[in-house]
Amino acid sequence: AELGWPELARIPHPPRRIPLLGDVVGVNRRTPLQDSMRYARRLGPVFRRKAFGKEFVFVWGARYAADLADESRFAKHVGLGVANLRPVAGDGLFTAYNHEPNWQLAHDVLAPGFSRDAMAGYHPMMLSVAQRLTEHWDRAAATGRAVDVPGDMTKLTLETIARTGFGHDFGSFERSRPHPFVTAMVGTLTYAQRLNTVPFPLAPLLLRSASRRNAADIACLNDTVDELVRARRATGGGEGDLLDRMLETAHPGTGERLAPRNVRRQVITFLVAGHETTSGALSFALHYLSRHPEVAARARAEVDRVWRDTAEPAYEQVARLRYVRRVLDESLRLWPTAPAFSREARVDTVLAGEHPMRRGAWALVLTPMLHRDPEVWGADAERFDPDRFDAQAVRSRPPHTFKPFGTGARACIGRQFALHEATLVLGLLLRRYDLRADPAYRLGVTERLTLMPEGLRLLPERRTAVR
Ligand code: HEM
Repeated sequence: AELGWPELARIPHPPRRIPLLGDVVGVNRRTPLQDSMRYARRLGPVFRRKAFGKEFVFVWGARYAADLADESRFAKHVGLGVANLRPVAGDGLFTAYNHEPNWQLAHDVLAPGFSRDAMAGYHPMMLSVAQRLTEHWDRAAATGRAVDVPGDMTKLTLETIARTGFGHDFGSFERSRPHPFVTAMVGTLTYAQRLNTVPFPLAPLLLRSASRRNAADIACLNDTVDELVRARRATGGGEGDLLDRMLETAHPGTGERLAPRNVRRQVITFLVAGHETTSGALSFALHYLSRHPEVAARARAEVDRVWRDTAEPAYEQVARLRYVRRVLDESLRLWPTAPAFSREARVDTVLAGEHPMRRGAWALVLTPMLHRDPEVWGADAERFDPDRFDAQAVRSRPPHTFKPFGTGARACIGRQFALHEATLVLGLLLRRYDLRADPAYRLGVTERLTLMPEGLRLLPERRTAVR
């Protein structure tokens, strides 16, 4: 009985195992997720990999992933990449252990910040940030310059969460280089990923200079956030935004408030979780739109029909972009930008009636492979096709087969926020530009716990006869 999986021996693993190092042959340190996808294709729906003395069970078959979604027997496991972020985000909402009291407290205090009313309140600010992006792209279009898609989407999504949630302006569009907060965040995410790829006891030695840099990055995140909180305390305001809730709102049941130390963790959590993955999702969607002119044409026709010539689409007009939303869903199917989540057994149980697990045993769900399971998505699962998300197709699929936002009580709190923001922005960009791809570009995926299309550049061209 290893790892709480009494019949571990029945779970396939790669053939070449090196003592001490584990299954590291052919493994690229910079792409652990894509390596795991290759293993998944070879080894099947439940498999294991060993790295540096630690063994991990991976699950992607739809039947097994659906069983792991049963909240009465399974819960979120804080492991691997998420656990490595504890020094950055502590008991903030994303990295908290299920049993930590600050999870429930913060969840209850912050959830109303994601209600429909709250979202409608953020809409005008989302729109004004998107207009900063189109001003920037208009200049590129006027001079025939290509734009750095992931870079610009990161500016957009950071400004959006910072302004709507925290009343803060990072000035991203006025900068030629990313804001130091972004550089520090990329540093800590990359470091947290690297910690999974070195022998654990040796990590402090092997990563000595990297760990010093990581400490400096964390200090930069803390300083940025402390400054933002100080400014709010000095000037007040916020009118019920996320920061206002974190600082002022008492728990409706217990009257408790978040402690200052926890507020810092939550602000970092929301600034990071609130922009990095949405930026990737928008970038992948723009890539696919540029490569599928027939899809882009259909999406644009919808925007023109639903929005007509309203300069500033209203909140309700965004949800009516059904096909644009399908483009986004289909991009998140192929490249879910938070590409894995972990589940642990709450009781002794048997996974899908096949694999016994003891209480506490856990597995990593590989979302990009779950989203490609041929039993659910068909033999052409690799093909980009937004019609997979038309209402009838969705109804015909079993539940728990599309999980870009995780599952259960610990699923993404910002899902509606991300979907509203991304649909709005895709609508505005489709209406305003033709997006020309570089024909030589081949999609490559950068990993830093999250996924991002590598080096994606597009040439925006102003459509004629659009305001
Ligand atoms: C949790 C994905 C956008 C805040 C999660 C989880 C996933 C996810 C998979 C669950 C992680 C786990 O089980 O370990 C995404 C994707 C997004 C997105 C793909 C964009 C396309 C956002 C936004 C916000 C946000 C915009 C905030 C404004 C959070 C927080 C959690 C979370 C706070 C932890 C929730 C909890 O444990 O209670 N997200 N997310 N996310 N997300 Fe998102």
